[in-house]
Amino acid sequence: MQAWLRTFLRTMDYFMLRLTARTQITSTFYYTFLSRAFWREHRAVAFGRLFYEQDDRSQSGSHYLLRRNIHQLEKGLIMKPRRPLFALDYIGETVRTYRQRLAECAAGSGDLEEILWATDVLTDYFSAVGEHPVITDARQSFAEVAAEAQTLKQESAVVKAPYKRDLQRPLPVSYMQLLELAQRRRSVRWFLPQSVPRSLIDQAITVAALSPSACNRQPFVFHLFDDKSDITVQQAASLALGTLGFNHNFPALAVIVGRQRAYFSERDRHLIYIDGALAAMSFVLALETLGLSSCCINWADIEAQERKMANLLQLAPDERVIMLVALGYPDPEERVPYSAKKMLHTLRRYR
Ligand SMILES: Cc1cc2nc3c(=O)[nH]c(=O)nc-3n(C[C@H](O)[C@H](O)[C@H](O)COP(=O)(O)O)c2cc1C
Repeated sequence: MQAWLRTFLRTMDYFMLRLTARTQITSTFYYTFLSRAFWREHRAVAFGRLFYEQDDRSQSGSHYLLRRNIHQLEKGLIMKPRRPLFALDYIGETVRTYRQRLAECAAGSGDLEEILWATDVLTDYFSAVGEHPVITDARQSFAEVAAEAQTLKQESAVVKAPYKRDLQRPLPVSYMQLLELAQRRRSVRWFLPQSVPRSLIDQAITVAALSPSACNRQPFVFHLFDDKSDITVQQAASLALGTLGFNHNFPALAVIVGRQRAYFSERDRHLIYIDGALAAMSFVLALETLGLSSCCINWADIEAQERKMANLLQLAPDERVIMLVALGYPDPEERVPYSAKKMLHTLRRYR
């Protein structure tokens, strides 16, 4: 584009923003008619809500609904004081969805860990909660599938209901060790031409999976490219604009993708980014303990790039790329930027 045209359009845009940014309704006008910047976000959130509803109405039920509700029950069980009656408004749908997902697990698909957790929490709930017609119905419905659940439970001796942590056992990681790990981790952009064992990536994702997640829904998936001879590592990495000049040397790449289908309401639409980023942080720290290094890579919301990545990963419309992480064995001969961190007093305000 000609420089004068770019300047003209930018000036026009500035005046439009001065006119429209003042109120909600005029801002909405701007982002509906003058800019398409949020259109994909709208589609993803709307499609996510639709997906959630369809999932809930399907044969197998929504596993995000089950995870959220089971987590609410866990929280109810540890309340002080615990209310004699709780979860009346959602226990019915919880047991209904539990039964659907149990049937799926019994048929050999679904997430066994999730169903074992749900079984133990529901068992705990029904033994703790008082009497009420809604609870009587749900309890009976739960009891009807007890034998089926028991068969699956034989797979695990661990009770997955609220428990007391063993705080007597000393933690093998000290503050100084954690500080050293955080100091050692730097964004590394130059790697050895060596492939990364999948077992190590899986170990790092296992740690990432232990990160906090709103209502324990874990609405993300790690998509991995790890075959350097395959063009896709570089192809995927080059879609992110911040990797120019060094993406050809990435041995592996993770693309962290969030799913808006985890939520029934728009109010939770930012959680994919929060949960995904928390998991990414654990992931990169775990990589470092395994002798691997990484570089987080920004995913800008640019229409053409979004389309290419969606094609490459076969993403559904509710799936949004959160960020990319390049990873591999660091080249010890290459330097890393110092990237000075902000001083403590500039980062915190005690109130
Ligand atoms: C969300 C996010 C996006 C990033 N995007 C890029 C990127 O596109 N290209 C790049 O070279 N580094 C990227 N980085 C790395 C940052 O530049 C780096 O984390 C920062 O300078 C601090 O350095 P450190 O990670 O070594 O502490 C990104 C980091 C984050 C957290």
